[in-house]
Amino acid sequence: MVRAGSVITIEAPAKINLTLEVLGKRPDGYHALRSIVMPVTLTDTLFLTTTYSQVAMTLTVGPGVDLSKIGAMDRNLAVRAARLMQSRYRINAGARIHIHKRIPIGGGLGGGSADAAGVIRGLDRLWGLDRPCGELMALGAELGSDVPALVHGGAVLMEGRGELVRGLFEGEAPVACEGFWLVIANPGVMCPTPDVFKKWRAGLTAGPLILHNMASSIRTSDVSAAADALYNGLQGGVFESYPSVAQTAAQLQQAGCLGVLLSGSGASVFGLARDEAHGQEISRKLGSGFWHVLVRTCPVV
Ligand code: C5P
Repeated sequence: MVRAGSVITIEAPAKINLTLEVLGKRPDGYHALRSIVMPVTLTDTLFLTTTYSQVAMTLTVGPGVDLSKIGAMDRNLAVRAARLMQSRYRINAGARIHIHKRIPIGGGLGGGSADAAGVIRGLDRLWGLDRPCGELMALGAELGSDVPALVHGGAVLMEGRGELVRGLFEGEAPVACEGFWLVIANPGVMCPTPDVFKKWRAGLTAGPLILHNMASSIRTSDVSAAADALYNGLQGGVFESYPSVAQTAAQLQQAGCLGVLLSGSGASVFGLARDEAHGQEISRKLGSGFWHVLVRTCPVV
């Protein structure tokens, strides 16, 4: 029995891709990927309330979020996630979704996917469904390629078009990763994901070492090794098409980041810092010309 008025608050973290290998184009038009994804401490806050039948959504935004980039509420991934949960589990109740957005929109940080993943996890609890994580991830895959990784949470290896997700260290001894400090910056342009993938050209893919090197740097919390192992097969094309993204990356590098990379299909870039103090120093040097934030990666599991 779902009781109207029950409330739940969820912190939905953004993600970065520490590696993103594009392995080829698939017959269904998507691209086969292999990517190490980690959530970070930049979050959207979701307030979910059970209502009698409708799904409705409201928004407030933090600095760096351009409200004009948000499309119609009705097509929002968070609303679609709630409706999918309603129909799949034959729930008569509805949900009021209020989101305080801090994750830039269209920024390669999985903001929309984070909200959808938060709604799926939140409604699973609020509506007392208690479904297995794998089932919720499969539901998420129906909404977008980044959703399953964020429903899973922690450091993951993402494959297929994004729907094949497993914990990066699944089956291994517990990993005591301390996490990395990083500065995320966004120049305020939109890099539409379909356009970025369309411009990708084969021949620039990486080898098995990319995955191995990054996984072992995370395992040992070795930020210098992680900086050397950063890889994104979409980066060259994005830097070419969107010079302001390349410029922002160069500024992060000049400010002293150990390594800089495009996140996902952009437009956000991030730079690794030695520690929190180094991250603060980098942030100070960047000034206020564009949006940036100092964050840490979330725990591995
Ligand atoms: O799945 P999602 O809606 O996030 O993907 C947006 C677009 O990005 C797809 O329509 C497709 O053009 C491109 N894409 C791709 N290969 C992937 C993921 C996304 O080509 N693995």
